[in-house]
Amino acid sequence: MLKLGVNIDHVATLRQARYATMLDSPNVEPDIVAAALAAKEGGADSITMHVRGDRRHVGEEDVAGVKRACDLPINFEMASTAEMVGIALRLAPDFVCLVPENRQEITTEGGLDVAGQRESLRVTVDTLRRGGSTVSMFIDPDKEQIQASAEIKADMIELHTGCFANATGDRRASEIGRLVAGSRLGHELGLRVNAGHGINYRNIKELFDVPHLLELNIGHSIISRAITTGLEQAVREMAEAMKGYPGES
Ligand code: PXP
Repeated sequence: MLKLGVNIDHVATLRQARYATMLDSPNVEPDIVAAALAAKEGGADSITMHVRGDRRHVGEEDVAGVKRACDLPINFEMASTAEMVGIALRLAPDFVCLVPENRQEITTEGGLDVAGQRESLRVTVDTLRRGGSTVSMFIDPDKEQIQASAEIKADMIELHTGCFANATGDRRASEIGRLVAGSRLGHELGLRVNAGHGINYRNIKELFDVPHLLELNIGHSIISRAITTGLEQAVREMAEAMKGYPGES
């Protein structure tokens, strides 16, 4: 069955909007750990958090708090920097997903250039794997990036679905075609294949055409829906929408 990783960064985005400079206030809310527990109640299979260099949403303490309170696997998203590798080794999350990071961006804008940074990423992957984490590369569904991910011995890839999610007209079918080809190639090369970015309640079924997917990481649309339905219910509805994924076909 297709698994659901819920990205709760935006819960912290809301907290930071009010309390970034007063995290010791007795009024700090919303609570990140409570969000993780609500996601679990709704049927999440893992909790995703991205500690950014600028700490615009979650921080290391949030990830540690969720790890202590919630028994779901943690998928820790991070840039391949010495600071983040140190944090990942301390936190020892179940999964680490390496992502590109650019201070100006509103959200992650594209996949990691694994092919262009093979040597440094090979060292990061090896260090994180020795620390006990399963390592994933967030990449565009491009042959070169998938082959490079296998070559540097990543365990997994997360195919970037943002281009598909934003495509209109004929581009939509061609973006699905890229994801299908990318997933097949990753699977052939022995990589576990996940996907994420821009997935919502409207486009989820289109991804059923992409074979071999194991887990989807979804944040913005679930947290947006949670404003009106509550987080547990929003996660439940997404988990429901993911049922019936055919998998290998
Ligand atoms: N996967 C990765 C690697 C991401 O960076 C993000 C966004 O933080 C997501 C998945 C989730 O994307 P969205 O918030 O659009 O669902």
